[in-house]
Amino acid sequence: MRITLPMKRWIGMSSIMITLVAGAALMFSSGQAAMTKDTKLDRDAMTKYILATVKAARTIYTQSVIRKVKASGMKASEDWVKEDHAVMLPAQFVKALGYEIQGYELSLVGTDPLYKSNEPKTPTEKEMLSRLASGKENMVTFQDGTQYKGMSADFAISQSCADCHNQHPNTKKRDWKKGDFMGAIIIRMRG
Ligand code: HEC
Repeated sequence: MRITLPMKRWIGMSSIMITLVAGAALMFSSGQAAMTKDTKLDRDAMTKYILATVKAARTIYTQSVIRKVKASGMKASEDWVKEDHAVMLPAQFVKALGYEIQGYELSLVGTDPLYKSNEPKTPTEKEMLSRLASGKENMVTFQDGTQYKGMSADFAISQSCADCHNQHPNTKKRDWKKGDFMGAIIIRMRG
């Protein structure tokens, strides 16, 4: 078959169009990939910043506020609302911070928790808790179903952490000591 001039033009135009469309598609898809990567990075960094801030607030609460309160004859108590001379526990302080903020949940998970509500809620949370317990990492972030989560290792930074847990009526473990890995502060972003 003889290729006529209009046909040649048509073939030329078509190949230019195909190249343009394919090029645009390629650019779009690589842009999407880069964006997804960036978004993931941002969420990861954001989760870590929040965890680090909450952890710092909890440390200050335990080491400065509770210490001072104790020196003046008061104490940290689970029933602090009903008691006249008591302030909230470090764990309650973390949860209370979370109640003030919308969009994510702040809580604690434990290896030997005092309450069932502080057990890891999914197999992935359980796996991440043992990863933190191994001591290789201090903080992990991960996708878990529809939620993005972060966990920061929680150690008995003072003997009072260990003492109170050892004496609690619900405890199944009575030999906590200063420095032990007790669990993690967890942030669960709403899906
Ligand atoms: C005066 C008692 C007391 C002190 C001090 C205390 N805790 Fe707790 N802790 C509790 C109670 C009670 C809970 C459960 C509270 C809740 O979930 O509402 C808890 C919860 C936790 C949890 C979640 C798992 C679980 O056991 O239920 C972790 C982890 C934890 N505490 C670590 C610590 C660390 C680390 C410190 C020291 C910085 C500390 N605790 C100090 C009483 C105490």
